[in-house]
Amino acid sequence: MKKAAIDEAQLLKEFEEKIEAEVKIEPRDWMPDAYREHLIRQISQHAHSEVIGMQPEGNWITRAPSLRAKKILLAKIQDEGGHGLYLYSAAETLGVSRDQFLQWLHEGKAKYSSVFNYPTLNWADIGAIGWLVDGAAITNQVSLQRTSYGPYSRAMIRICKEESFHQRQGYEIMWKMMEGTKDQQRMAQDAIDRWWWPALMMFGPHDTDSPHTSNAMKWKIKRESNDRLREKFINKTVPQAELIGLKVPDDQLKVVGKDQMGEPMYAHGDIDWDEFWRVVKGDGPCNKQRLDHHINAHENGKWVRECAYAYQIKTNNQ
Ligand code: 3HC
Repeated sequence: MKKAAIDEAQLLKEFEEKIEAEVKIEPRDWMPDAYREHLIRQISQHAHSEVIGMQPEGNWITRAPSLRAKKILLAKIQDEGGHGLYLYSAAETLGVSRDQFLQWLHEGKAKYSSVFNYPTLNWADIGAIGWLVDGAAITNQVSLQRTSYGPYSRAMIRICKEESFHQRQGYEIMWKMMEGTKDQQRMAQDAIDRWWWPALMMFGPHDTDSPHTSNAMKWKIKRESNDRLREKFINKTVPQAELIGLKVPDDQLKVVGKDQMGEPMYAHGDIDWDEFWRVVKGDGPCNKQRLDHHINAHENGKWVRECAYAYQIKTNNQ
């Protein structure tokens, strides 16, 4: 066997031993190209999701029902922008520039979570997004804190500290509406009816239909599978809905057992994967609007980036 091949085999063996021993892989460590490419794809798409996800909620800053609600929503959206920046920074450590990530997004070559391609029709949607979308995101991100790639794991630990506030403020909005007028109760039920299934889709296709999950689990990028995380989210969220009088829009939902804590475990109805892939492939209610807005904002913000670069060069040369 040629020396190079022996070296590569030795490097792969050391990489696999680190993964086995739960030693974080760092940017300067040797890693298989496929591991690097998997992370470039997942972390950059995660970052895109955080930033595009600012749009549906941003639509309601000027229409928040109180100063308190406006302040909370402003803080949450600002957090999401920061999450995107952490994640782009983590993705850049893999050798791809932010400009390149944004170009792939603008060219439709990179994905973001399909849930953000639905419109926010009224204030109850802001509650449903915080409670369900951020609730699903937390379920996923708490697990990702143990991911094998160091910069991604550290970004997740930082992000999870803020996500729980996001979920709780959304649930508080739904709770208040369910204690409100009949109209407000109808708005809250309509919101869960519209956001429940897109939130379940955030965990990705079933494990048997997921092309990436086997590698993701082998390399400990994912620590739990799509279906396991979806189950955890459902088991946590259904009792929250019932507590405030909301009905989960799934006639096939049923209790199938109890977990070690004696909490109910649920089986859910079929997810409409045709809708999922239709929206992922660009035919959702807001896909074009979201991408056009991102492209315009990026172009209109060019002068800000140029000023920041000029300032950086000037201060570096002093
Ligand atoms: N929306 C859009 N595309 C999705 C998707 C979704 N909800 N779920 C899966 N996909 C895509 C995958 O990207 C992949 O396509 P690709 O090969 O072109 O990238 C394809 O469908 C097959 O899916 P897999 O399950 O095999 O892919 P993954 O192993 O990458 O799993 C994932 C998908 C669970 C989303 C995983 O990538 C992941 O955990 N990503 C990190 C978490 C994340 O991105 N969350 C998105 C929401 S962030 C958020 O909500 C922020 C909050 O603060 C509001």
